[in-house]
Amino acid sequence: LAPQDLAGVRIVVTAGPTREHMDPVRYISNPSTGRMGLEIARSAWLRGASVTLVLGPTALEAPLGVNVRRVTTAQEMYEATVEAAADAHAVIKAAAVSDFAPKDCVTYKVKKEDGAGQACSFISTPDILAALGKEKKDRILIGFAAETEDVIKNGRSKLERKNLDMLVANDISAPDSGFAVTTNQVHFITREAEPQALPLMSKADVAWRILDKLSELKKGRF
Ligand code: C5P
Repeated sequence: LAPQDLAGVRIVVTAGPTREHMDPVRYISNPSTGRMGLEIARSAWLRGASVTLVLGPTALEAPLGVNVRRVTTAQEMYEATVEAAADAHAVIKAAAVSDFAPKDCVTYKVKKEDGAGQACSFISTPDILAALGKEKKDRILIGFAAETEDVIKNGRSKLERKNLDMLVANDISAPDSGFAVTTNQVHFITREAEPQALPLMSKADVAWRILDKLSELKKGRF
């Protein structure tokens, strides 16, 4: 039996990419499969937590036992996450949220001959994690950072900027790490301790380590 150290803890996990449509058949997105967040949700449930998973479009199956809310766009993910976070003890944001969305999304399919020369302009999507950081209260907030350089430095600044308890940073340019692979090599960045580099391991094992940290962070808080 898994340890029940998260019994009674309400956790919101976000996972997967978002899609920002410009017309019904075209969108911008990213290669996230949702695996990292799905593994966190599964492990949290095994350890006794009550889990809400806000899940972007993915081909992977959502784990048993978790309450799944499927979303498509960053705006939908924002609304579902803020709502679910209202009575949560912790939010873990593993989703790869699109930072931009096409400014105008039309309801008809743009024709090939009309679309090619057309400039597309973008608007910024809401930063869900930063919004939660502003209204943090006692909630534990854990974010992810996919970086291609200065992983620790950029990670630290993200931790501060978004008012997080922990940031899980990875160098997505490293082999076998990041998007669409089953392994990950991450650094844990917290407010007090020195950054901790974990070896390359499966995303399931990374998930377990993240929850060990959550278990430590919650001591004396709830
Ligand atoms: O700023 P950056 O996108 O690198 O930060 C990554 C972290 O912020 C991830 O935890 C991601 O889920 C979260 N994020 C978010 N809303 C956005 C963009 C990123 O919650 N619009």
